[in-house]
Amino acid sequence: MHTTISRQNGDLFMEKIALSDITHQFGTPCYVYSKAAIERNYQSYVTALGEQPHLVCYAVKSNSNIAVLQTLAALGAGFDIVSVGELERVLMAGGDPSKVVFSGLGKTRQEMRRALEIGIHCFNVESESELELLNKIASELSMRAPVSIRVNPDVNANTHPYISTGLKEDKFGIDINNALAVYQHASLMDNIHLIGIDCHIGSQLTEVAPFVDAMDRLLILVDQLGALKISLNHIDIGGGLGVRYRDESIQSVDDYMSELLPRLAQRSETLILEPGRSITANAGVLLTEVQFIKSNDHKNFVIVDAAMNDMLRPSLYQAWMDIQPISDSSDLDEKVYDVVGPVCESGDFLGKERPLKVKEGDHLCLFSAGSYGFVMSSNYNSRPRAPEIMVDEDSVYLIRQRETIQDLTRGEQLLPVN
Ligand code: LLP
Repeated sequence: MHTTISRQNGDLFMEKIALSDITHQFGTPCYVYSKAAIERNYQSYVTALGEQPHLVCYAVKSNSNIAVLQTLAALGAGFDIVSVGELERVLMAGGDPSKVVFSGLGKTRQEMRRALEIGIHCFNVESESELELLNKIASELSMRAPVSIRVNPDVNANTHPYISTGLKEDKFGIDINNALAVYQHASLMDNIHLIGIDCHIGSQLTEVAPFVDAMDRLLILVDQLGALKISLNHIDIGGGLGVRYRDESIQSVDDYMSELLPRLAQRSETLILEPGRSITANAGVLLTEVQFIKSNDHKNFVIVDAAMNDMLRPSLYQAWMDIQPISDSSDLDEKVYDVVGPVCESGDFLGKERPLKVKEGDHLCLFSAGSYGFVMSSNYNSRPRAPEIMVDEDSVYLIRQRETIQDLTRGEQLLPVN
């Protein structure tokens, strides 16, 4: 199930490193990523794409640590960004700006300017107002902004409503029925260079049929545009392929490409993909220590030192993520526990009703935490954010230090005292 992690003589290992060694060296909570797993997941896209002209733009929002981005940049990855902060991270990590696509529906003037100056591959534009502003800013810089229009193809991704993005009721993109008119309008703008089309229909999709539906709808539009002499260089189908958190059956990258690529066979456009979760989720874990165990008439609670501020997914999406002891304690009785953090909210839990053999002081591993984990963490309850660690075979690297109490108040000021 978790290809990066194995259990050897009762102890969990990532690559050649025992996770218990990491808890001793770095303390808990902490995030740990496998370099080999990130590389393998990225390569599975490249291999499945074969001869198809392509650009795999890793969705930086899913895990933006600069060492993770560096690992992917070294393999030639492009990047899908949603802010100038993510752009600066990509540059720091040695990413190639000409392989960056800039998504997001609220880009600011400053962000547009910086991305134009750096020379990104394209802006994924989500509204006519954004197009007008981008045209204006590009003209101030005497440039032409490379643009793809993000269309909303109105397909049902069959995923959690918070992470479905391709339906009419979602805020994203331009209605596919209005897109032709928007392209025609954009083609008349002096400082806009139309180069592509994109969509992103949602995240954690278990099946590929909705992607294929979306592609078919995009292709109809691309052909209509072609007939109007608006020819595009690329088609960007977004990210969204899911991963197995529990027992979901997920179609593989190979399944996905074998359904998608035949549709592009006789065409000249480059295929762009924006995968995030399918590259980093199963490459990472969150390690935590059991502080206390308590029970009442109804329930048993394991109180751990990681909380919703460290990992928000269970609280926000009722996401189920596997939790297992780092070291087997087979001599203990198994009980059913809610695994909860110390934050003062009833919604602060990592897992509910989990059968576990644990005692105070044991360490637990939360699986598939490499995407939308650390990046969604906060300082709620004035909790310093966890460190991030990268395992590379038998080497271990601290790739982000644990925050300190001083970090928590950095930039804050007391009022003057009279
Ligand atoms: N491209 C765009 C425009 C996106 O909005 C997203 C994700 C991606 C690509 C990458 O999608 P992926 O391959 O990772 O599914 N925090 C949520 C997921 C939010 C996804 C937002 N957009 C979670 O923890 O489940």
